Amino acid sequence: QAGSIPADRVPDMGKRQLMNLLLLGAISLPTAGMLVPYATFFAPPGSGSSSGGTVAKDAIGNDIVAEQWLKAHGPGDRTLSQGLKGDPTYLVVEKDRTLATYGINAVCTHLGCVVPWNAAENKFICPCHGSQYNDQGRVVRGPAPLSLALAHCDVDNGKVVFVPWVETDFRTGDAPWWA
Ligand code: FES
Repeated sequence: QAGSIPADRVPDMGKRQLMNLLLLGAISLPTAGMLVPYATFFAPPGSGSSSGGTVAKDAIGNDIVAEQWLKAHGPGDRTLSQGLKGDPTYLVVEKDRTLATYGINAVCTHLGCVVPWNAAENKFICPCHGSQYNDQGRVVRGPAPLSLALAHCDVDNGKVVFVPWVETDFRTGDAPWWA
């Protein structure tokens, strides 16, 4: 994975914190300042569509290969990728070291901040107004009115692919508000 710090030199926790710091840095700036790093981070947009799905991209815009991702991201990991429509979307690594079949859209349902994962609290906690979501993105504290959106996460030819989630939200039993 070009451009990243070698996995064997950084403990898992350190990497996560670094990621969170980068994330916080990008979102705690005023809106105008935020758009530039945000756009750069998730560029280039609009590429990678295949039949019925969108290939997930990593922080530097490369297609995400599931096997490589799982080597670099251990059980319980939640790391941002570029998902459907370019939305920042968490890839979830389950306890058994497989990729979860759902990705979690990181855009806060309150006013749209990107919500960082807090491994210590086992929650997503929005730095803007304090909304909290559990480890599957279900809202557990307001002001956010709704849970984080879901996307199906599949592996196609070795690559991670997101597909729109139009079925019932398995966390709430409700129809998907985002579809
Ligand atoms: Fe997340 Fe307001 S934008 S709590």
